[in-house]
Amino acid sequence: MLNKAVRIHRHGGAEEMEWEDTPIDNPAVGEVRLRHTAIGVNFSDVNVRRGGFYPNHNPSFPLGLGNEAAGVVESVGEGVTDFQVGDRVAYAGMLRQFYMDTGAYSEFRNVPVSRLVAIPEGVTDRQAAAILLKGCTASLIIEGVFTPAAGNTVLIHTAAAGVGSILCQWSKHLGATVIGTVGSVQKAEVAQRLGCDHVILYRETDFVEEVLRIAPKGIAAVFDGVGKDTFLPSLRCLQQFGIAVNYGNASGNVPPFDVMTLASKSLSICRVGVTGHIHDTTSFRRVASKVFSLVAEGAIEINIHRTYALRDAAKAHAAVEVGGFTGSLILDPVGS
Ligand SMILES: NC(=O)c1ccc[n+]([C@@H]2O[C@H](COP(=O)([O-])OP(=O)(O)OC[C@H]3O[C@@H](n4cnc5c(N)ncnc54)[C@H](OP(=O)(O)O)[C@@H]3O)[C@@H](O)[C@H]2O)c1
Repeated sequence: MLNKAVRIHRHGGAEEMEWEDTPIDNPAVGEVRLRHTAIGVNFSDVNVRRGGFYPNHNPSFPLGLGNEAAGVVESVGEGVTDFQVGDRVAYAGMLRQFYMDTGAYSEFRNVPVSRLVAIPEGVTDRQAAAILLKGCTASLIIEGVFTPAAGNTVLIHTAAAGVGSILCQWSKHLGATVIGTVGSVQKAEVAQRLGCDHVILYRETDFVEEVLRIAPKGIAAVFDGVGKDTFLPSLRCLQQFGIAVNYGNASGNVPPFDVMTLASKSLSICRVGVTGHIHDTTSFRRVASKVFSLVAEGAIEINIHRTYALRDAAKAHAAVEVGGFTGSLILDPVGS
């Protein structure tokens, strides 16, 4: 059957992204065929397209991009009992590392049921595609590494961005004092609305000085998806026994550093990867259910900044590489 997808034939810039016919088989045993209704855009899609970012990742070409989508079950393979035709479902990552087995930038896709979660009433397909992977990443940090609480002050870099905006709202919901950094005045307004108690324009201001002015004894934790430009200076913001969690490298990799730097305040550092947090079906569905319930109860607002037609995915990638938007970007396969 006809299935259009965005694929690359070599690593490179957004101009390598081709809109082309892609064969699709009938769903295999344990798989369903999804008709995608909304596709999430993630920074990792850009990293996969550019190549050279993930260790030992040498994909074969042509390579379909994307690792997160929502859709409707169109047909089921043998042995599938937990989902039926017409169900609304979503997925984030396949069976290996989340940046492997990509191919969500397509109209249709066969997906193992072990990677599916049902989308609950009250959450739209677009919202599910906007939040699932980013929300799972926030859960990994908040439920797996450091849980902010009343009495804690936490620093959250890029507080208006995809993962940052969820971390910010969730930390506030748990009662912490939140200091957020952002790259523009427009983003500062968004971060404030999402619950940041203090917002720092970190490109114009020395954020370390500003954090220590707000919290002279230092902060309990920093959540950092920027990497090169922010991670090491952030260590100076921490209190005794503070923890620095790096989850992303939007500005580039964290440079190598001397672990003795941590000794004077007995600091901890952690570099997280979401795959292990949602690798098995039970964990994935538990985490997704937690994220969706935070949305349903109004603790987390989903901000879809812009929707692009699937065939225009390259324009979405260009936006990610500039980083000027807040919240999430979505691809719409309908009418592409
Ligand atoms: N560890 C994991 O498992 C995992 C899971 C999901 C995401 N990630 C990573 O986490 C990072 C953030 O993801 P996200 O979904 O929040 O991304 P995003 O929504 O695209 O936001 C990235 C933000 O980083 C800031 N930034 C700083 N330098 C930048 C640069 N050179 N180019 C583009 N943006 C830059 C911008 O915010 P300001 O304008 O406010 O500076 C931008 O809005 C990415 O590196 C992503 O790969 C990791």
